Amino acid sequence: MDFQNSVVYQIYVKSFCDSNGDGVGDLNGIRAKLPYLKSMGVDYIWVTPFFPSPMFDNGYDVADYCAVNPLFGTMRDCEDMIEEAGRLGIGFMFDMVFNHTSWDHVWFRKALAGDPEYMDYYIFRDGVNGGPPLDWTASFGTPAWEYVPDLDKWYLHLFDKSQPDLNWENPKVREELKNVIRFWLGKGVKGFRFDVLNLISKPEHLEECGPGSGSSYCKDGPRIHEFIREMVTDTGIEDLVTVGEMASTTLENCIRYSNPESHELAMCFNFHHLKVDYKNGDKWALMDPDLVRLHQIFREWQEEMSRQGGWNAVFWCNHDQPRVVSRFGDEGTYWKRSAKMLGTFIHFLRGTPYVYQGEEIGMTNAHYTDIEQYNDVECINYYQILRERGSSEQEALEVLARRSRDNSRTPMQWNPRHNAGFTNGTPWLEIPDNYRFINVETEERDPDSVLNYYRTLIRLRKQYPIIANGGIRFLETGNVRVFAYERTLGEQRLTVVCNFGGQEERAALTLNAGTVLLCNDKADQMERLQNGGLTLRPYEAFAVLS
Ligand code: GLC
Repeated sequence: MDFQNSVVYQIYVKSFCDSNGDGVGDLNGIRAKLPYLKSMGVDYIWVTPFFPSPMFDNGYDVADYCAVNPLFGTMRDCEDMIEEAGRLGIGFMFDMVFNHTSWDHVWFRKALAGDPEYMDYYIFRDGVNGGPPLDWTASFGTPAWEYVPDLDKWYLHLFDKSQPDLNWENPKVREELKNVIRFWLGKGVKGFRFDVLNLISKPEHLEECGPGSGSSYCKDGPRIHEFIREMVTDTGIEDLVTVGEMASTTLENCIRYSNPESHELAMCFNFHHLKVDYKNGDKWALMDPDLVRLHQIFREWQEEMSRQGGWNAVFWCNHDQPRVVSRFGDEGTYWKRSAKMLGTFIHFLRGTPYVYQGEEIGMTNAHYTDIEQYNDVECINYYQILRERGSSEQEALEVLARRSRDNSRTPMQWNPRHNAGFTNGTPWLEIPDNYRFINVETEERDPDSVLNYYRTLIRLRKQYPIIANGGIRFLETGNVRVFAYERTLGEQRLTVVCNFGGQEERAALTLNAGTVLLCNDKADQMERLQNGGLTLRPYEAFAVLS
């Protein structure tokens, strides 16, 4: 199974399926739902961290890389889950959080106790004038350096203070992490997702960096390609499915990370397309999506990656992003059509598509109205920051309702009954009311559902090699709301057209005669072509093969 042909499904374990009634999803819950995932046609499952953790960042603060958090099950459950998936032809990709550990990790405990060997696993520095070594902020809104009085030193954390950054300059650290990969390979894992991987190589002269966001100084650092190549080749995972989460990276670097000649990764995630509704680049300042920018980003990345032999993970949703139908689509009249349009756009692009749990049924944002309903450390910090900057409670809550990561972390909606079928207990995070009609069971029964449409998208990829292997070129439509691209393989052409607007839109398109492979409304596009153009219905999407 090569990764170009594959579709990956992402599970946020805490919110997927609870098998033991404690209100938290678990590994046996995942196992119970493997037949469902098989019916979707997915090839790989990326499961978010389920390792022992104090859960300050819901498991992205790992205290032991080679064990299972009792909250989620046992090592036996994990082995059974891997084995059963294997029997169904599905491979697991585990999530390796190698930029930092939890402060509960034994390495950090030893470091805090003053053991010089383990202090060198992390990034400790002396303070400057009684303050931190650098005036850096961490990604969750706090300062990036934490003072340890007993050591009279500061340690770096690009995320929460409970997530100290590892020192990749230390070869012992690199060896320890390779052993983690080897451990999971031994358990039958088929691929890996690497958390914030492009932050691991810190600037050479750290002390000389200026003030600002710590991550912006650390992204794509001086030894990044060397570190990745070493990790990949030494563990023999070059031919597996590997994906690096690359924060604020560049196109050039992504081509290098994913081009087979560099012996680094199979593919990368980047997030530029998910910042087009950040006002002045600030996630916590609301703005409608800038569709011109969105189009520009996709066009540039898709065409250049194709030209220069890079490969991307293509996606709208994950556990850090608000729900796409609430963000670029419509939760009202056109809920179903817009969810299908967004799926169409992603699945026909050049790259490996990722489906995040619930996306395939069109799950929406949470619509919480009280700060008490939120759980995520990032949004709780930012709520305070917004209030301190002068936002009213109402204004701050409005921002969270659109931007909080909890929007994607609400429990999976399985059926229209109690707790959406997620748990028999009390769910750890509140479930939006719309589970009564947005849920797997209801959509299974409707041939026209978002769920069945996603199944078709995945099936078509297996049926038509042009989707996985074709080249790509974006087409001019003369309308900022209508995106169109053309895939080509040999003599074949696949033209994909998507209306990102909630109104009828006219597009100046000349379509070659062909068959409509898929569309989210009536397949009468050919008849509607008139005067060198086509009027698209709100959120209409279709693909024509010629
Ligand atoms: C990644 C994860 C996110 C986590 C962060 C720190 O961005 O996706 O959930 O908070 O890394 O590990």
